[in-house]
Parts: sequence; C-alpha cells; structure tokens
Amino acid sequence: MPSPTLVIPMLETPQLLLRPVGLSDVEAIQAKFARWDVVQYLNAAVPWPYPADGALTFVRDVALPAMRKGKTWHWSIRPKVEPDQLIGVISLTDDQDDNRGFWLDPDWRGKGLATEAADAVTNFWFETLERPVLRVSKAVANIPSRRISEKTGMRVIDYHERDYVGGRMPAELWEITRDEWRLRKLR
Ligand SMILES: CC(C)(COP(=O)(O)OP(=O)(O)OC[C@H]1O[C@@H](n2cnc3c(N)ncnc32)[C@H](O)[C@@H]1OP(=O)(O)O)[C@@H](O)C(=O)NCCC(=O)NCCS
Repeated sequence: MPSPTLVIPMLETPQLLLRPVGLSDVEAIQAKFARWDVVQYLNAAVPWPYPADGALTFVRDVALPAMRKGKTWHWSIRPKVEPDQLIGVISLTDDQDDNRGFWLDPDWRGKGLATEAADAVTNFWFETLERPVLRVSKAVANIPSRRISEKTGMRVIDYHERDYVGGRMPAELWEITRDEWRLRKLR
C-alpha cells in the first residue's frame, strides 16, 4: 500500500508549508489540540476531555487509513519561518455537507494563516480533486471561522443545529462552487 505522503502532495502558501499528516505528528497534535479554545466549536465526535492517546488513535486509526483510501486529506500547518513546528491541522473530506476543517494553535492566530491554508486546500479540492462544490458547516458562534468563509467567497445556504464539543448550537451551512472559485481567482 502506498504511503499517504506519496499520494498527497505538500502544499505551499506565501507563509506556510502544508505537509501531509503522519505518525511523526502525533506528539505535536496531542500537545496543541487538546485545549478548549481549539475544540469548543468542533464536532461532538471529538472526545472531551481529550484522552492521553487521542492524537495517536485519531492519526493511526482514523486519519491515515482514510487518507490511504483517498477519502480524506489531512495536512499539518507549518510556518515557513519555523518549518519543524506544527501549528495546526487542515483537512478535506468527502463527507456530505462538511468538506473542510481546520484548527490553529492560539499563539499563531490573528495573522491570516488559517485563511492562507484554507485557500490552498480549497484550490486542491477544486483543481486537483476536481470536486464541483465545497460545503462546510460551522457554529454561528464561531466568528473567526465564519469570517474565513466570508473572506474566501463562500455563502450561507442553510441553517440547522449541530452538536459540538461545547454543546448543541445553531449552525450555518456554507458553500462555494468550483465555478465561483475559479471566477474569484480571475479577479
Ligand atoms: C478558526 C481559526 C483557525 C481561525 O484562525 P485565525 O488565525 O484567527 O484565522 P485568520 O487570521 O486567517 O482569519 C480570521 C478572521 O476572523 C477575524 N476575527 C477573529 N476573531 C474575531 C472576532 N472576535 N470578531 C470579529 N472578527 C474576528 C479576524 O480579524 C480575521 O478576519 P480579517 O482577516 O478580515 O481581519 C482559529 O480560530 C481556530 O483554530 N479555532 C478553533 C478551531 C475551529 O473552530 N476551527 C473551525 C471549525 S469550523
């Protein structure tokens, strides 16, 4: 079976390297992910309190098998100025109505890095994976994440409620089509 790092390319943005997630990332993910200000607006499927082997179980048993099957794509987010440092993870998945997710270490927020990473993987979704539409569901209370959707040309197409680590909350379904994405790139 091919290694996922051979199948999924490294992506580059002006300030970031996005490297396919591997077992060598487990320790950094465990250290940076298990905090309330990272998980509160993530899907309630994330166990909380986060177990000591949470990152290992996720990467080894969930992420890597799905990456090998071509069902999900997970990249570690690394600043070019410190490429050895994992500061977050960004993911794509073929799940219905929820195709992209990301989190960033709070120490690295507020610099536009999540927007850069989102742009890069969205381009991969449309231009490499050739999917016709990208949809994401996010809590209405998650203002930074909604702002990233707005900034990248997405629009709200539905409202619903969803179970998050922080409880059941109102949520919005955001969408952008491949044609809309391509038009934005031409501007
Ligand atoms: C979502 C997340 C990755 C954003 O990281 P970030 O570094 O703030 O992202 P960016 O800097 O690229 O963009 C955030 C935008 O939200 C804005 N923003 C952040 N906090 C805000 C607030 N309280 N009120 C208004 N706008 C706010 C920023 O100003 C920026 O917009 P701008 O470029 O127009 O100024 C980060 O908050 C995170 O990891 N959250 C926890 C995980 C999560 O919820 N993931 C998303 C699940 S849907």
